[in-house]
Amino acid sequence: MPARAIILDCDPGQDDAVAIFLALASPTELEVLAVTTVAGNVPLALTEANARRLVEAVGSTVPVHRGCGRPLLRELATAEHVHGATGLDGSGLPPPQRPLAPGHAVDAIVDLVTARPTGSVTLVATGPLTNIAMALVKEPALAERLEGIVLMGGAIGLGNVTPAAEFNFYVDPHAADIVFRSGVRITMFPLDVTHEVLVTPARLQRIDALGTPAARAVTGMLDFYRRHGRTGGAEEGPLHDPCTVAWLLAPELFSGRECHVAIETASPLGIGRSYVDWWQTGNRPANALVMNEADAAGFFDLVVERLARL
Ligand code: BDR
Ligand code: CA
Repeated sequence: MPARAIILDCDPGQDDAVAIFLALASPTELEVLAVTTVAGNVPLALTEANARRLVEAVGSTVPVHRGCGRPLLRELATAEHVHGATGLDGSGLPPPQRPLAPGHAVDAIVDLVTARPTGSVTLVATGPLTNIAMALVKEPALAERLEGIVLMGGAIGLGNVTPAAEFNFYVDPHAADIVFRSGVRITMFPLDVTHEVLVTPARLQRIDALGTPAARAVTGMLDFYRRHGRTGGAEEGPLHDPCTVAWLLAPELFSGRECHVAIETASPLGIGRSYVDWWQTGNRPANALVMNEADAAGFFDLVVERLARL
């Protein structure tokens, strides 16, 4: 089997960082064509620099593109209270040396997907969906050409930034709406499943014990992140974004259901909510495979095994 070509669209973010590391540690299964960055956890100037810091930290030369600096219609909402002022607090990584790749992230997505055979590129999205919605608007044929989009976002149940909404969809609900209406095959990792893969002290210890610079950076980041996340103050915190890449590597670790998903863009109280029609109440065709269960032990075995390669 040739490696699956992916573009990683992200807003690093400590959990985005682990997703990037997992992908770059898996060249047999995944060919990372580009890392594209978007404003989200912190402003774009930081997310794009963080992506370069991470790529450089593991000796990769994959191009990093700068994308959209704000959501389609709303003001940017960020999450320094979770990720720290840099977005990558705890990593100890130096500033980047290599420049950004030329060209806007939206153009890079359109061009890379268009240049390859239909059905051969998968988008992995771990931030607000602004770049991806823009790419689908700029080149609607992308919807047909993509193999699919694997994304972290939304919730079947409770939100984490409001009672109704998860952060990525809350930041750019209009972009999420465009993506879910696009007809692209979507695999969605909502909070319900990402809250099953918890960073515990014992799991952190396993990563730390690898003793490599990459493992040290991950240990520092996740130690910060688990203490500042939604379960702040507790010993354990969810590891959202790497679920996407882990599924591409080992789909048997997760299970879910084909559902229709709609995004709330109007209600002030509910904005950004994902309405997951789990019980098929509406007779609308499914537009996403929505995950709700994870094998947490297997997931962390995979994370440790892949980080050991870096
Ligand atoms: C998502 O929001 C961000 O803070 C994380 O990086 C993740 O993508 C979780 O709601
Ligand atoms: Ca993210």
